[in-house]
Amino acid sequence: MPHSSIIKDISKPSVITSVRKPSYLSIEQSLGLEGEVTLNGAKNAVLVTIASLLLTRGTSTLFNIPASQDVFYMIQLIEELGATVTFDIPQNILVVNTTHLEGTQVSADIMNKLRASVLIMGPLLARFGKADLAMPGGCVLGERPLDYHLKNFVKMGVVVKEENELLSTSVTKLQHRNLLLEYPSVGATENLVMAATLTEGTTRIINAALEPEVFDLLEVLKKMGAQISIEVPATICVTGVKKLKPIEHAVILDRLEAGALLLAAAITGGYVRIPQAPAHSMGLFLTKLQDIGHTVLIGKNGTGVKLKAAKHMHPVSIRTAPYPSFPTDLQAPITALLTLVKGTSKVQETVFENRLMHVRELVKMGAQIELEHGVATIRGVEELYGANVIASDIRASCALVLAGLAAKGTTTVTGVNHWRRGYQNLEKKLHMLGANIELCE
Ligand code: UD1
Repeated sequence: MPHSSIIKDISKPSVITSVRKPSYLSIEQSLGLEGEVTLNGAKNAVLVTIASLLLTRGTSTLFNIPASQDVFYMIQLIEELGATVTFDIPQNILVVNTTHLEGTQVSADIMNKLRASVLIMGPLLARFGKADLAMPGGCVLGERPLDYHLKNFVKMGVVVKEENELLSTSVTKLQHRNLLLEYPSVGATENLVMAATLTEGTTRIINAALEPEVFDLLEVLKKMGAQISIEVPATICVTGVKKLKPIEHAVILDRLEAGALLLAAAITGGYVRIPQAPAHSMGLFLTKLQDIGHTVLIGKNGTGVKLKAAKHMHPVSIRTAPYPSFPTDLQAPITALLTLVKGTSKVQETVFENRLMHVRELVKMGAQIELEHGVATIRGVEELYGANVIASDIRASCALVLAGLAAKGTTTVTGVNHWRRGYQNLEKKLHMLGANIELCE
């Protein structure tokens, strides 16, 4: 369904209705955004949590579930495997019954929609010893291979066959091992941890990713009855149990959505309050906003952020890396801000080699950016100008919207499917803060 979104009617859980999707965002310059906003659940935590329910048998209830397109794709995916799902969209509550899971095979059509589809591999291998999947799709962010996942599944005894873009994996009994990741991949860590929960003995995932979304997954698995502990250095130890039970869980709120809203205030010279913002997991990002000159106030216990934009901003250098370093997902959005910061800023992308495609589009809006070997050198300009620009991935769409809010004239962003994949109604939140932004047919 390339041009449709899915709306689930809570009163008729099995009904899926297709509607036409608006095809571009129109943004007028909107200076001085001001107000208070709430946050949705973190997409990256939600997707893996939905996948993890395949480890259980019974009915689980998840709260804070954003109605973003990737969430709908993930729902569709587990429905293909036999799960029954009810999504109360107004309340953001998802109820999933995994009593009658039947398949271990997922169609290429749905696998191709999102990269996170690969996260069903660990749960399916743990529960059924088999997973037949197509190569996952998602944002085009460079090669995005699956070798960290597959190499380590093979160490656990899994037989992997790859033919014509199809991955066939099977195992008689998963073996506990010490698994050393050569890079702290978020997805590989999550997949291996999930597989290990039902694997006899203690599996250690060393050099594991420790993103807040990974910790939220660990909380979910512990509620299910998994035995998990953390050791130094960056090692997740999982001792297998015989079975896991359904859960109730409120997914963590989205630090990346919070980041986008703070940047909206910063780039428009405004003042935004986000009482729910998980400041405790946004450390380096908030520090960089302060270094640029913005006033950032953090609430008690590390929750809640207020940002008052600076009149005079200073250039900074940013290098993305795994948590707790600067998040790659906020690289494109902060680059949009830096285009308007007098002086020379540098942004180095080290996580995804292709995640700089927004640069070309920002240049169309008047930004001065040179790209070399994954480093963007940004010379701040006085003004950006509205243009027709194309979003190439979720976070690029955010960057272009932010630039559009500050740019003179009208900005038109196409590639809106990416926006809808990552955010639920972020344009409405921006509108509430005073932005002149519209999703158009
Ligand atoms: C997740 C997030 C994504 C975020 C990223 C890094 C979800 C749904 N998505 O993606 O928003 O930007 O973490 O914080 O949670 N790699 C390999 N081989 C592998 C696996 C990864 O080479 O087997 C590489 C990737 O190509 C990339 C790097 O490792 O260059 C990091 O990827 P990874 O941490 O796995 O990101 P995802 O889990 O795909």
